[in-house]
Amino acid sequence: MTIAIALIALLLVSLWFHFAGGWSLPPLASNWSDIDLTIGITLAITGLVFIAVVVFMAYAVYRFRYRRQGRSQYQPENKRLELWLTGFTAVGITAMLVPGLYVYSDIVTVPDDAHQVEVLAQQWSWQFRLPGDDGVLGKTDIKRIGPDNPFGIDPVDPMGQDDRLVVSNRLHLPLGKPVQVLLRSKDVLHDFYVPQFRNKMDAVPGIVSSLWFTPVELGEFEILCAELCGVGHFNMRGAVVVQPPQQYQQWLATLPTFAEGAATAANAGLSPQAREGESLAQSQGCLACHGFETSPLAPSWLGLYGKTESFSDGSERLVDDAYLIEAIVEPAASLVQGYTNVMPAYTALSELQLAAIIAYIKERGGDGAESGQPDTAPISPPPPQPKEPAAPDTELDGATLAQTKGCIACHSLDGRAGIGPSWLGLAGSERTLADGRVVVADDAYLRRAMLEPAAELVQGYQPLMPPMPLSDDEVQALIDYMKQLSP
Ligand code: CUA
Repeated sequence: MTIAIALIALLLVSLWFHFAGGWSLPPLASNWSDIDLTIGITLAITGLVFIAVVVFMAYAVYRFRYRRQGRSQYQPENKRLELWLTGFTAVGITAMLVPGLYVYSDIVTVPDDAHQVEVLAQQWSWQFRLPGDDGVLGKTDIKRIGPDNPFGIDPVDPMGQDDRLVVSNRLHLPLGKPVQVLLRSKDVLHDFYVPQFRNKMDAVPGIVSSLWFTPVELGEFEILCAELCGVGHFNMRGAVVVQPPQQYQQWLATLPTFAEGAATAANAGLSPQAREGESLAQSQGCLACHGFETSPLAPSWLGLYGKTESFSDGSERLVDDAYLIEAIVEPAASLVQGYTNVMPAYTALSELQLAAIIAYIKERGGDGAESGQPDTAPISPPPPQPKEPAAPDTELDGATLAQTKGCIACHSLDGRAGIGPSWLGLAGSERTLADGRVVVADDAYLRRAMLEPAAELVQGYQPLMPPMPLSDDEVQALIDYMKQLSP
């Protein structure tokens, strides 16, 4: 009886969650109402079957509960029942499949008047290419992909000369015009997904996949990568801006063409110093957490320079060169409000490198003072915070430390390759160093690897890791944690 009641309760809670739980599709913004319809049909059929099965189960559990008298009947065959069940199942499956097949045939039939847009995915960003006035995208070749030609456009193909390149993560589209999105990937599987457009598609390295839709609502919609593609997957986002056709044409006209040397449009307008800063920001892993969009991990660099930043101790300060240097070299000294202290101190950067990164933040991120930030003159700098030693009375937990100190941004815990070696099976294993020596990863080695990472570089890795400012107890807790990962 208890189990039967529990089953019915489970059913009621499931139904309540479905109807009142607030999990619904975002408002539709494309022509694909048919996809919603098929989802609705599938949900209705599977929902009815779910209700029927649970109710029957509850009934059977109660009706045929164990009693001392009597035995169960043995009835291996029941032709009538089997026919009924087979018939019901066949009707249910057909009802789910047939509408889907109709919609699928629409999905694979691209309308003749659709214009093309190419989406280029890579870890972890989106770029876009649009055909020029000839309406045809130029030929590409992966062998030509390089810093100066991110799309790998064939420089001798006349069709490619007028291709317009968007080397940012914002794509504009005209309202009401069907668009075929061609997808390419530079590295691993990604998936182009705008929930409001319903249709989504994988970007597969080596082939061009595609999907089409017609935007029917004005507005800005978020692009999400819907395929787990590495540590930065969560941050692989962008935006589609749907505009009236005239405004779209204006935007289109602002885009540089390939012939105009737009290949480096990401860097267009950037000084050589800022370009240097860009490659540093990539190689040092800054962009894994910072970027030019909001991220839960770290303050965005968009409009950062020149704005007034608020800190967790309540103070405020103008973001200028001096502040940025301090924030890179000694990030724990003044913590920006709303963020936790996970950034390691980058003490190994030279003055020139720091200046390059700051130039990049300034030029690429724009001036925060211009973008409506009140230009309050530098308020008194925050009082220098004494470096607090880790509270000795709290039990140090290596797993938590690995997160809060940012280790797992680069070191995986499951053997996956990352920016640094995985911690799975690391402790106690033999490591081949860049200089050819072979060492055993014992406690002493692991300690050195954290405090002085550049001294013994593991073969195949770049010297990217900053020395970690860790207390002895913290080092020990992390070593203990690594040992747990290496039974
Ligand atoms: Cu790209 Cu997930």
